[in-house]
Amino acid sequence: MKQGSNGHSTLQWRQKIAGKFEPLPQYLIPVLQFVQTEAGYLPPEAMTATAEYLRVSESKVYGVASFYAQFHFEPRGRHIITVCRGTACHVRGSAAILKDVEKKLGIPAGGTTPDMNFSIETVACFGSCALAPVVVADTTVHGRQSSSSTSRIVDRLASETPELEPKKNPAKRAKRTKAAASAAGGKKILKPKKH
Ligand code: FES
Repeated sequence: MKQGSNGHSTLQWRQKIAGKFEPLPQYLIPVLQFVQTEAGYLPPEAMTATAEYLRVSESKVYGVASFYAQFHFEPRGRHIITVCRGTACHVRGSAAILKDVEKKLGIPAGGTTPDMNFSIETVACFGSCALAPVVVADTTVHGRQSSSSTSRIVDRLASETPELEPKKNPAKRAKRTKAAASAAGGKKILKPKKH
């Protein structure tokens, strides 16, 4: 039985999906959203199960998932720190903020900490240029940021769940994940990816 990294086989995903949705092709996006919520990303086993259950091709499932920025094919951190690299934010210091948060977490933009607690992403523009520089922590937009205020956000997220507190020397333990390498970019619900 094909088993995913999150422990669910294709059959198990199919059963989970069948418990929530009718086997109709029009449920493709809701099913993908369900899987993304359940697993935090779209495991290949779930993609196969989705195609089988909804009776659509896997290429169609991957094609739709690839089109929307909300879907991810690899695991991401529990907390996502997204730094805007747009012009307005850049001229107000976003590059320094990004550099400092990378240093703090010990990972590059696009990376995920080895303990899967934090990922750093970037976006071309949040559309909130008047608030530049902008950092989004999970789903909360923080305007007029500095390195220190962003650092406090990371600390607060970590302290809210003590076991998430960044380690003292994260740089020594950091590694760049394949997932995060492709994770940069704007992440709005059902916002098409730029190709
Ligand atoms: S450039 Fe950062 S919000 Fe527009």
